[in-house]
Amino acid sequence: MSDPISAAWERLDALQPATLETLFANDPERAAKLSRRLEFRLGELGDVGMLLDWSKTHLDDEALGAFEDLAEACDFPRMREALFSGGIVNPTEGRAANHGAMRGSGPEPEVEEAGALLARMGMLAGAIHDDALGEVKHLIHIGIGGSALGPAMAVDALTRDGARVDVHVVSNIDGLALEQAFAACDPATTLVAIASKTFTTTETMTNAASALKWLGERGVSDPYGRVIALTANPEVAVEWGVDETRILPFPESVGGRYSIWSSIGFPVALACGMDDFRALLAGAKAMDDHFRTSDGRANAPLLAAFADQYYARLRGCQTRAVFAYDERLALLPDYLQQLEMESNGKRVTVDGEPVERPTAAVTWGGVGTDAQHAVFQLLHQGTHLVPVDFIASIAPGDLLDPAHHRSLLMNCLAQGAALMAGSEADDPARCYPGDRPSAMILVDDIDAATLGALIAFHEHRTFANAVLMRINPFDQFGVELGKALAKRIDAGEGDFDPSTTALMKAAGLA
Ligand code: F6P
Repeated sequence: MSDPISAAWERLDALQPATLETLFANDPERAAKLSRRLEFRLGELGDVGMLLDWSKTHLDDEALGAFEDLAEACDFPRMREALFSGGIVNPTEGRAANHGAMRGSGPEPEVEEAGALLARMGMLAGAIHDDALGEVKHLIHIGIGGSALGPAMAVDALTRDGARVDVHVVSNIDGLALEQAFAACDPATTLVAIASKTFTTTETMTNAASALKWLGERGVSDPYGRVIALTANPEVAVEWGVDETRILPFPESVGGRYSIWSSIGFPVALACGMDDFRALLAGAKAMDDHFRTSDGRANAPLLAAFADQYYARLRGCQTRAVFAYDERLALLPDYLQQLEMESNGKRVTVDGEPVERPTAAVTWGGVGTDAQHAVFQLLHQGTHLVPVDFIASIAPGDLLDPAHHRSLLMNCLAQGAALMAGSEADDPARCYPGDRPSAMILVDDIDAATLGALIAFHEHRTFANAVLMRINPFDQFGVELGKALAKRIDAGEGDFDPSTTALMKAAGLA
């Protein structure tokens, strides 16, 4: 007899999927059954409202029941509780994943510590806003990966109508990125934030040194006095030369790609104000509460993970696409790429055994309607089956003629309908096969609280996928080998393959 996990997958393998058209025809309540309207009232921090519609996916009652059994077999309720109660959910590094505590969802001591760190962040942001460090008009935020993508996305999303401080996020070691930030900033009114959990990342430390040099060369008398550190390694930041009073620490147990809730989110506080940063946290906390207290298909992130598992593991979809029909969320696909692919792009289970099925799909996407005129051809008529998420806002981000926003939303809805319905024609080149899945997240508006809830939704969806696949989403050893080899090239050490050796010569590296 097979174990409960294998038995659940056997049931899932045996599903005979009906077409989307048939699923809707057989159940007049389908749209309502597979949609969730989430509403969070956050008092003075705002309200969050979002409709999540998963009805245009191939999940039906039978599939949902089998996935619910799989979740039970994978010990989902216990794993979820372990996440929120500081259990070791990252076994390869022997760590908890305490990002939830940063927004108030976690064990008491961690939540208390997070409150103290947040207060410290508020004081520094307040001091800067009050010109205690001199006039500050610009912030160059230097960090990479999880130390950059979250702040870049959130600042971009929340400052479309203006920012208290002009933020430039620089991540790439390509000096051009930093030069471009320099060109946009006046050194006399610029602060530099060095954002690095480890405070050792090559790109970040190289860019930080160059930024310090730039400040000095441009007549700033005390360049170190213009530097802030956002890090889980404050001792190294002090050694580097950052004054202790301008270091905003965060705990080691907060992973890089989950760190926007910690001091890594400082640019959001500086650009938008502490109220917005608190609203971001509160929106995420509300999503935590939903995730923690809802079961099975009623749990929105878990439902989304069921669909992800269905397409990646049962239908062989190697990618999933996310299209934000809103300029404010233009950087969301980039953010989700790291969140999902660095978390779940794994090949062994928590027991160190090879996985038996594919893990994370490749996440990609863009902004609507632009993407319609560039990549949607493949979605509608290509040979790949690509599950698509659409994300849109009922309230517009612009003040122009409402015709703009109306057209944006109409296009978004039309794409989901077209993917599903398809269309016949005598000419095969003009045929659309249809039966192509999509999901929709329609938020009331994009403000700090809603963004917090949206990010937390995706964090929990990623975690739920990991639990269903029995993999550890909180380590990322896969990024280390390339870094080590780059160091060996730098040191002129080691034998490389003939191709790399020739390329090293051609590039002037050997
Ligand atoms: O190389 C991957 C990674 O470790 C990410 O996980 C992390 O977000 C990024 O590098 C930056 O690391 P740090 O914040 O320590 O500079």
